[in-house]
Amino acid sequence: MRLRVIGVGPGDPGLITLKGYQLINSSRLVFYPTGGKDALALSIVKRLLPLDDKELVELHFPMKKGSLKEHWTGLVSLIIEYLQKYVEGVFITLGDPAYYCTFYYLFPYLVERGVEIKFIPGISSFSAGSSLFSIPLALGEDIVAVVPGERFKREWERLQFFDTIVVLKAKNYLREIVDTAKLKGFKVYVGYRITQEDEVLLSDIENFSVDEKVEHFDYFTLTILRRG
Ligand SMILES: C[S@@+](CC[C@H](N)C(=O)[O-])C[C@H]1O[C@@H](n2cnc3c(N)ncnc32)[C@H](O)[C@@H]1O
Repeated sequence: MRLRVIGVGPGDPGLITLKGYQLINSSRLVFYPTGGKDALALSIVKRLLPLDDKELVELHFPMKKGSLKEHWTGLVSLIIEYLQKYVEGVFITLGDPAYYCTFYYLFPYLVERGVEIKFIPGISSFSAGSSLFSIPLALGEDIVAVVPGERFKREWERLQFFDTIVVLKAKNYLREIVDTAKLKGFKVYVGYRITQEDEVLLSDIENFSVDEKVEHFDYFTLTILRRG
């Protein structure tokens, strides 16, 4: 049994790698994640190639904390059931699997059950953001941190010494991120649904209330803080 875990980029199907495309295209079995309301990875792939001839299997990853071991083992059994039938398949995931990809919770259990797994990198949301804002994430001897919004405040004592701080899952923490970073002279970039149809990019914003659109931002929001 073989599974390829493929990063499909931040939204624009043109940002899926050629290798990712070829593997999805040739696979008869596609696992896709759902978390909140969106099956975003699936909607990206659907815009690139027809999926009618494929078995699509939803894997629900709850957006809550705590011990989810039972839930993970349930998902693992479902994956194994399908892999026993199809022998190989792909799991698609948003951005690059290297960052906050919940599939990694299943990884050790699947390996234990004899599944051979390979990861195919994708373009992360903040790599795409860096390009669209025309700013580097690192230059020369710069150091970069990537953090989830909920750790931002707690880690600020350490974070303030980085040259670039990428904050993912930033939605509920935007005000404190922007206000704190501005005080220390960072330029603040906010990206909402980067490379998707309803993308909003706010460059070098001065304060949180700079744009009322911010109030409507959902989970797919990130910030890049770059030392000025
Ligand atoms: C679970 S993490 C997954 C990150 C993903 N693996 C990546 O490489 O970008 C989800 C967070 O990524 C960020 N994100 C993913 N896609 C995005 C997009 N198109 N625009 C802005 N932020 C995005 C948001 O901060 C969101 O809360």
